Amino acid sequence: MTRQIEKGRFIVFEGLDGSGKSTQIDLLCARLKNEGRNVVKTAEPTELTTGGIIRDALAGNYQRTPEELSALFLADRIAHNVNPKNGIIKLLSEGTDVICDRYYYSSFAYQGMDCDLDWVIRMNKQCPSVTKPDICFFIDVPADICKKRVDNRGTVREIFERDSQTLDRIRAKYTEVFNKLDGENIVIVNSDGTPEEIAERIFSLLPPFTP
Ligand code: TYD
Repeated sequence: MTRQIEKGRFIVFEGLDGSGKSTQIDLLCARLKNEGRNVVKTAEPTELTTGGIIRDALAGNYQRTPEELSALFLADRIAHNVNPKNGIIKLLSEGTDVICDRYYYSSFAYQGMDCDLDWVIRMNKQCPSVTKPDICFFIDVPADICKKRVDNRGTVREIFERDSQTLDRIRAKYTEVFNKLDGENIVIVNSDGTPEEIAERIFSLLPPFTP
């Protein structure tokens, strides 16, 4: 008799640069592993060829229109889902939990600022190769705090400016997008407290396994 494999959970983290996504992803990953789960951490843009093209555009080395960027992010997302080696679809079907740093909500918030938001939503949500997340945690941190953290990191600048005003606009766009979306499981995570307290909040909200 063949045993039915329990599907993994597809968990997405979203937030502004400097919102503490990476810390929360690491804490959740460690906790799930501790419970004996198979967990894979991943991110968008990916390390695949499409991700490289995007990074070139983000660094300003190659200018792309907002529509081109939207399409490139979608192409990268499809490759992320379907690649036969370690794609999201394969991992989930094997029972592995997949934790992803940014997904289509980032396209809605960032590309949705410069081109038609409905078009960006439609092309992502209607694409059969783009898996819908089981849950999305949005780490909600005020723009000025994110800015301080990003400045302290001193990382290379991207085409998206990281001044407080722009970060504020992106945060507002996320809110607009979350209010607009139907049938998505989005949790706005209050970022008060220590990283461990936030992690506890996130863990308590995880959906049960669905075979
Ligand atoms: P990166 O430095 O890789 O990650 P992070 O900012 O999360 O630490 O930057 C990714 C950038 O790409 C970020 O500014 C958001 C942007 N982005 C989009 O504009 N659209 C998308 O669909 C995704 C996934 C990311």
